[in-house]
Amino acid sequence: MAASGAALCLSVVLLLVAVCCRSDVDFIYQGFQHAPNLSLDGSASVLRGGALQLTNGSERLVGHAFYGSPVALGTLDNQGDLAVTSFSTAFVFDIVTIGTGGGHGLAFVVAPSRALPGVSPEIYLGVLGPTTNGKASNHVFAVEFDTVTDLEMKETNGNHVGVDVNSLVSNVSEQAAYYTTGADGEDRKMPVKLESAQQIQAWIDYDGGTSLLNVTVAPVSVTDRPQRPLISTKLDLRSVFKENMYIGFSSATGKLASSHYILAWSFRTNGLAQPIDLRRLPKVPRQRTPAPKVLIIKFAAVACAGTLALVAAAMVTALWLRHRAALADKMEDWELEHPQRIPYIELYKATKGFKESGLLGSGGFGHVYKGVLGRRRSGSGSGSASGEEVAIKRISSGTKQGMREFVAEISSLGRMRHRNLVELRGWCKHGDDLLLVYEFMPNGSLDAHLFGGGKVLTWAQRLSVIRGVARGLLYLHEEWEHVVVHRDVKANNVLLGADMGARLGDFGLARLYEHGAAPGTTRVAGTLGYMAPELTVTSRATTATDVFSFGALLLEVACGRRPVEPGEAADVILVRWVRDCGLDGDLMRAVDPRLDGCYDAAEARLVLWLGMVCSQGRPEARPSMRQVCQFLNGEEVLPEDAVLVFSDPDSSVFPGSVLSSMTWSSSCGTMSVGSLHGGR
Ligand SMILES: *[C@@H]1O[C@H](CO)[C@@H](O)[C@H](O)[C@H]1NC(C)=O
Ligand SMILES: *[C@@H]1O[C@H](CO)[C@@H](O)[C@H](O)[C@H]1NC(C)=O
Ligand SMILES: *[C@@H]1O[C@H](CO)[C@@H](O)[C@H](O)[C@H]1NC(C)=O
Ligand SMILES: *[C@@H]1O[C@H](CO)[C@@H](O)[C@H](O)[C@H]1NC(C)=O
Repeated sequence: MAASGAALCLSVVLLLVAVCCRSDVDFIYQGFQHAPNLSLDGSASVLRGGALQLTNGSERLVGHAFYGSPVALGTLDNQGDLAVTSFSTAFVFDIVTIGTGGGHGLAFVVAPSRALPGVSPEIYLGVLGPTTNGKASNHVFAVEFDTVTDLEMKETNGNHVGVDVNSLVSNVSEQAAYYTTGADGEDRKMPVKLESAQQIQAWIDYDGGTSLLNVTVAPVSVTDRPQRPLISTKLDLRSVFKENMYIGFSSATGKLASSHYILAWSFRTNGLAQPIDLRRLPKVPRQRTPAPKVLIIKFAAVACAGTLALVAAAMVTALWLRHRAALADKMEDWELEHPQRIPYIELYKATKGFKESGLLGSGGFGHVYKGVLGRRRSGSGSGSASGEEVAIKRISSGTKQGMREFVAEISSLGRMRHRNLVELRGWCKHGDDLLLVYEFMPNGSLDAHLFGGGKVLTWAQRLSVIRGVARGLLYLHEEWEHVVVHRDVKANNVLLGADMGARLGDFGLARLYEHGAAPGTTRVAGTLGYMAPELTVTSRATTATDVFSFGALLLEVACGRRPVEPGEAADVILVRWVRDCGLDGDLMRAVDPRLDGCYDAAEARLVLWLGMVCSQGRPEARPSMRQVCQFLNGEEVLPEDAVLVFSDPDSSVFPGSVLSSMTWSSSCGTMSVGSLHGGR
């Protein structure tokens, strides 16, 4: 009896111990030589000196290192709601690049499993992949340390720290830096170059009670932890975390490749992570430059030396010829039919061998380099003397299929001249790569101006951009020799010239994407939020699908919000949000608050209204670009009694059924221009 009582008592005690200790995790890896409880996959390995190498500088690698056991990061209460546990982590990383311009970066990851499904290298950092990116079902939280500007991930800086929730499109992103406090008590922001082969320490602290996340980075040469974090943001992780999560690191390389190392790591729940002893960090292998071989030739006969010289000369010549041959173009007959072909060697020289330092960005289609075309072009000795700045888009389609048709189309487009279209200067095919040479746009993309956090575009600038894009599209649709459908109208493809004039770029490119798709499948090119609903059914791009995308762009520019924004509970779909503002009789609430009221109300109303009309689900209900231009130019005036009718404003299906019944009718409806006029 007494024995069984004692056993019961003991098991209760054990249970209590198990409950209380299940939650708290506290560990430190001061180097990884003896690294129990660490689970590696992909290219990750622990080097002899104790550094954890996630990637080794080869192309397209993914490496993961996770703490082996799950960590209790959430507690369910009686209602079944999750309370997120506070946690704190510190680690030292080192990114080493051979040559210049590496990539892509590394991330601290919290995920429901150690095997991340469907991950990709490059811009996805091995954390997510094209099929999973943006899905709430991922339950992934990450802090990325990214060394490449990925336009696809809406990044504007090639050296940044970003907070990612279920998506590599960061929720918050800052150029890498730390704050110091000067003698005057003012905070000064000191830049940190992530990819500089220096050891950098990062701290990530999350308070589950206040939902406050802090991220701090500093080179280890800064001995005291900076007081002020680089990023301090409210982040609700209740719907992201599960009770048990895995913690660790992910890193990936792409065409641009660095070696990514973690040198030390500490982590703790419900308390501050143990400080890392910076004097005991493992070393990483440095780039070894092979020592020049010293040739000692004793008593060399003149003849022998002569022979050697001849052989060396022959080898140098052979190497040079091989290099030339690699740069030379292997032309197919049809290529001669198309003018504007620029020899590969000229583009090679223009970009100094496609140096990474000339990289303007990378996106879904490939990399874009800045280059300067030389004086001599197409044999005419009287080219521009100074050299001409161009942007060179290198598209690795990986398939020759459709290249011929595409080049035919591209070179016909190359003859287009319109002040609202980015001029195509020429093209070149090199192996499976296609290179397109465009005029250089010094002011970058509209997307970067709207969301890059720089100077806010004024209303006048926005309207002029909108009018410009509309004129460019009208030209493509109606004024050129044949109808050209752009297929990918979006803020990223609107570029700004030196005068801030808008120019539409990348027209026709989506076509290559479709040509290049595997036979038997139809792949629709386009960007979420800009794609007309009928595209998912017919996958046939038309001028009306362009008008739909333009509608999304109109709303984006007027509201300063993206067509689809990830929200806490559900994604915020801009067109529905604007509609709701209109239905509430306060359409002007939709206008970008950053404009601070400095805009022409009538113009803003018109832009919002046009945006809604272009976003209608039924393609035949949308106006043509000519009609759009007439409205934007004031040649056509918005009828006072124009009405947008919604049959079912609360439908959750978007946009097919919500907007399909929106018409231009002037019958009595839910949202009239009266309400557009601010309810007068
Ligand atoms: C590994 O796990 C064991 C048991 O779970 C624990 O005692 C040990 O401290 C852990 N080691 C590290 C470095 O976390
Ligand atoms: C880098 O890692 C990859 C994958 O682990 C391996 O195949 C490759 O040989 C390594 N390269 C070097 C230079 O070590
Ligand atoms: C985050 O930083 C702010 C500002 O320095 C500080 O007040 C707060 O306590 C920090 N929170 C955490 C969880 O570290
Ligand atoms: C991401 O950022 C947006 C805007 O700052 C915010 O509204 C949203 O709640 C954030 N997402 C999460 C999951 O916190």
